[in-house]
Amino acid sequence: MRRNQPMMPKSEKNIKNPELPKSPGSNEHHQDSRDPRDPKTLRLTDPAYRYPGSGNLYWKKLQAIKPFAIADNACELAERQFTLDPNRPLHVELGCNGGHVTLEWAKQNPNHQYIGIDWKFKQIFFAAEKAQLRGLTNATFMRAYLERLQFIFSKNEVDFMYLFFPDPWPKKKQKKNRFLTTERLLTIHSLLKTGGIFHIKTDHAEYFDSMLEELKAVIAPPEKPNGATEPSFEILELTKNLHEKNENARGLTIPDVTLFERIFIKQGLPIHSLKLKAL
Ligand SMILES: C[S@@+](CC[C@H](N)C(=O)[O-])C[C@H]1O[C@@H](n2cnc3c(N)ncnc32)[C@H](O)[C@@H]1O
Repeated sequence: MRRNQPMMPKSEKNIKNPELPKSPGSNEHHQDSRDPRDPKTLRLTDPAYRYPGSGNLYWKKLQAIKPFAIADNACELAERQFTLDPNRPLHVELGCNGGHVTLEWAKQNPNHQYIGIDWKFKQIFFAAEKAQLRGLTNATFMRAYLERLQFIFSKNEVDFMYLFFPDPWPKKKQKKNRFLTTERLLTIHSLLKTGGIFHIKTDHAEYFDSMLEELKAVIAPPEKPNGATEPSFEILELTKNLHEKNENARGLTIPDVTLFERIFIKQGLPIHSLKLKAL
């Protein structure tokens, strides 16, 4: 399975927000229907934006499985319906899909707390159901847009953030939908504690190169590595072939690799990895 198109949740198609990427292959021309009086139609990055709710069956199921899952507005600081233990390191997986890695980490590290975020209702529900069945009290799954990250967490709240195999939006016209930009790196930097780690993995060489370009603006200048006054990252790991020296790469299992990573390894695609420390 080689991804040419990102995977959109079917249920998203019914939500009318001009900021949501259109379904792959859609030629539909979008009229700007923003109405400042209706928070559901504002830009996803607008602080006043509110999720519209949904008729999706799994949206209803998500309401009933709290606190293993939290959905939409209830994820946000203004209406937060979950608690964090300031004494336990907080890990956040962005685009966690069915939560496989987060679930496994939560099981292995009961003294740490884990949050997996994805916009897919069904996948988040199944992840939360597994957390409930396994009695994991340190894992929470959020059905939310990554574009709302700065309204979900407080500044300096997160210890580890992960972005594994983000949708590459490979076509020229789609590139504007890519998640990782300089602005997002700055947002992530602000949410991480000093010394916090941001780890990115992708199979997509061109997206990886564009990430490195976006990173240039927020990398610690060599002449002032630790005294940097601007928000900046230090590169801890940068490789375009993470598993090159591992003869058993095909045998790696979750959480050492993600679900998508296993598929890409089997396809012989090199895995790119970038690990950053917030200074
Ligand atoms: C290619 S999958 C990778 C899944 C997982 N990280 C892995 O490596 O197996 C990308 C995931 O990001 C989610 N995603 C993409 N854009 C998103 C957005 N704007 N907000 C929330 N989730 C998003 C998708 O639903 C999907 O589950």
